Amino acid sequence: MLWGGRFKEKLNSKALKFSSSLKYDINLLSEDIEGSIAQAEMLATVNIISNDEKDKIVFGLKKIEDEWNNNTWSPDPDNYEDVHSAIESRLFELIGDAAGKLHTGRSRNDQIATDLALWVRKNSSLISELLSTFQKTLLEISSGNTETLIPGYTHFQRAQPISLAFHLLAYIEMLERDKSRFEFVGQSVNQSPLGSGAMAGSTLPLDRNLTSKKLGFTEPTGNALDSVSNRDFILDFLNACSIGMMHLSRFSEELVIWSTSEWNFIKLSDSFTTGSSLMPQKKNPDMAELIRGKTGRVYGNYIAFISTMKSLPLSYNRDLQEDKEPLFDSFATYSDSLEIINGMLLSAEFNKSRFIEELKGDFSLATDLADWIVQKQVPFREAHKIVGNLVQKLESEGRNFKSVTLSDLKSISSVFDETAMECLQMETALRRKKTYGSPNPAIVKNRIEFWKKKLS
Ligand code: ARG
Repeated sequence: MLWGGRFKEKLNSKALKFSSSLKYDINLLSEDIEGSIAQAEMLATVNIISNDEKDKIVFGLKKIEDEWNNNTWSPDPDNYEDVHSAIESRLFELIGDAAGKLHTGRSRNDQIATDLALWVRKNSSLISELLSTFQKTLLEISSGNTETLIPGYTHFQRAQPISLAFHLLAYIEMLERDKSRFEFVGQSVNQSPLGSGAMAGSTLPLDRNLTSKKLGFTEPTGNALDSVSNRDFILDFLNACSIGMMHLSRFSEELVIWSTSEWNFIKLSDSFTTGSSLMPQKKNPDMAELIRGKTGRVYGNYIAFISTMKSLPLSYNRDLQEDKEPLFDSFATYSDSLEIINGMLLSAEFNKSRFIEELKGDFSLATDLADWIVQKQVPFREAHKIVGNLVQKLESEGRNFKSVTLSDLKSISSVFDETAMECLQMETALRRKKTYGSPNPAIVKNRIEFWKKKLS
């Protein structure tokens, strides 16, 4: 117990259970110990504790970490309020009275803020690594598929032909933005809250620069009141997880669609699909569905915690303890989802020739034909109408672009000549794209090279 002095009675056992965060803040054990070691070393440097006491404290803290990692010590959540009290109590058992000096000039308020900053910094970079791994997988698939034609959609109606590589590269761009959000979160925790005390600093000569340096921060935070109240970085982390999950969810939806027999475009491996308990023939894309489904929970975590933060007066309030479950849950869900979707893609097979014939038989090159007309100095609105009339004529005859002849074109407008027929060649459709950022295989290959360099 960290605070018994002014109390006559013990905390009600139900109240202790209700308020204890140990079940989940035990996740912060290594950060808590790291922060405490820095604190003890600083206290010795400014002569608040002796070197001998510091050595004992550091020895005890390291032993606790070992005990936890080797499963030889695990604190009972019904006995402790949080990870900080559990560790301090174990430290007393291990080293005796010197343990009582560790908390000098420190409050659990600056302690937890420091633990969380360290945790968020570590796990932001872990997520960035997972994002890079997934980008590399997509890049690898893209490399062999710059000419693999698939339909591109708007309004989920066929719009224009694109390549599989072009489609996957769109996700690589999104994942890069996801990474930059985590980089921002990492930078937003580069100041050390340690030494802010409960909310107004300390009368002791604590060296905040020293603890900041020891913990790898760039400087101490500038205002003690803000330091113990600030959870913006947790909201930023939760938001980055939400947007990241939204991207994985959109991709998952596409994987679900691509794996239907109607699409027959992707074959997910047995190791990332499941069967039906009733229908023997089924092979279900459950992993993709679950990523899509779990996205809701990750959004919920953000909403839950930003709602908790609303209207809290400065500075620390116990409400802030509600930051942890959403934080750990969003991290676990998002990092697992990234690994799963990566495994799913690595082991999937694409039916590369699936769409070529089908695309020849639809109207996806209508825009290219209109572009051809525009080059004859016809206003685009007019060109749009001419091609619209052609589509209408062919459709009413039960035909499509596959069977179109020059005389069909000429019957609609005298602007056409035989070079217009080239626009309807599906095989060369991508190569005719001229703009930067388009699916032209040469342009896509350049972009692949760009990403290869960036991700290496
Ligand atoms: N478990 C607490 C939290 O997560 C630690 C800080 C407690 N501070 C306090 N004054 N009760 O916020």
